[in-house]
Amino acid sequence: MGRTPVVNENYWSVIDAARRDIHRSLTQNGNNAAPILLRLAFHDAVNYDASTKRGGANGSVRFTQELNRPGNNGIENAIRFCEPIKRRHPDITYADLYQLAGIVAVEVTGGPAIEFIPGRTDTDVPDEDNIPNPRGGADHLRNVFYRMGLNDKDIVVLSGAHALGGAHKDRSGFDGNFTRNPLKFDNSYFVELLRGDTPGLVKLPTDKALVSDPRFRSFVELYARDQRAFFRDYAESHKKLSELGFNNYNYQQSNIYDSDGCNEQQELDSAQAYVFEDNNGGCPMQFNYGYAKPYANANTNANGYGCCPSSGYYYNAC
Ligand code: HEM
Repeated sequence: MGRTPVVNENYWSVIDAARRDIHRSLTQNGNNAAPILLRLAFHDAVNYDASTKRGGANGSVRFTQELNRPGNNGIENAIRFCEPIKRRHPDITYADLYQLAGIVAVEVTGGPAIEFIPGRTDTDVPDEDNIPNPRGGADHLRNVFYRMGLNDKDIVVLSGAHALGGAHKDRSGFDGNFTRNPLKFDNSYFVELLRGDTPGLVKLPTDKALVSDPRFRSFVELYARDQRAFFRDYAESHKKLSELGFNNYNYQQSNIYDSDGCNEQQELDSAQAYVFEDNNGGCPMQFNYGYAKPYANANTNANGYGCCPSSGYYYNAC
């Protein structure tokens, strides 16, 4: 019945190494794979059913049966990107790897830091199909996302991922980038949505539904005028998305769950009380785990964010 990793010190060092490896592989190719990695993370999590608690971020998208679904056209490129990383770090589960890749994709393109908690189980069976139909309207979006246990704000803010990349005729039938700079994660998706049809850019019917539906539209307007609000809410909703079907059981049960040498009880306290830094301003966040509460035994920088003395990594420091 699948594989659940034991989240101990050793697993945390595997995660750290995989994170650096993803970062390196991405930047070596000019971040070109960032959009498809982010889409991969979404498509692995999207099949979660909150009522049955089945599906979610469990690595199932790697199965041919899922990859053959028309909504997953193109995802095989992201799977292929991840395979050498999996080979170099065989202990990481696919489920953790895909979600970690999505988070690094957001970070390297200038988006907010997103907290990553490892421990997802790999399923050994494909999930049911809950991929949204890009030709759907507001009702369809609500059906898909409510089934996952997400809400209107999650729908709008997560759609902001369409700051990156675009559509390809041979994959979805649509063609063109969503924004003018498809390798920069910012709030331009919302700015473009409010402009209406713009030559050279593509808007899916589901994108347009965010403007025509009044409840969705209020969030679009907020994020178009306030990138900080977008980054703050995006980081929160993306974390939720990345943990669908994952109950953090291992994480909560383990007394030692990272390798940075900080006082573990302090980390447990801080994990319960974390506040998200929005990383506005595009700081490089290679080793950002999203904790904003300094540890008792940590040095702090001018912003009051902690740096673990033994690892030397700053947490949420620009
Ligand atoms: C709200 C419902 C959504 C629908 C209907 C939808 C649909 C689509 C479609 C049709 C494409 C174009 C695929 C292609 O032709 O290559 C696409 C691209 C993309 N989607 Fe979504 N999407 C949705 C939400 C999301 C979410 C929540 C995320 C991530 C959190 C996401 C991330 C992306 C990215 C990054 C791309 C660009 C991929 C590339 O350039 O290869 N999408 N989406």
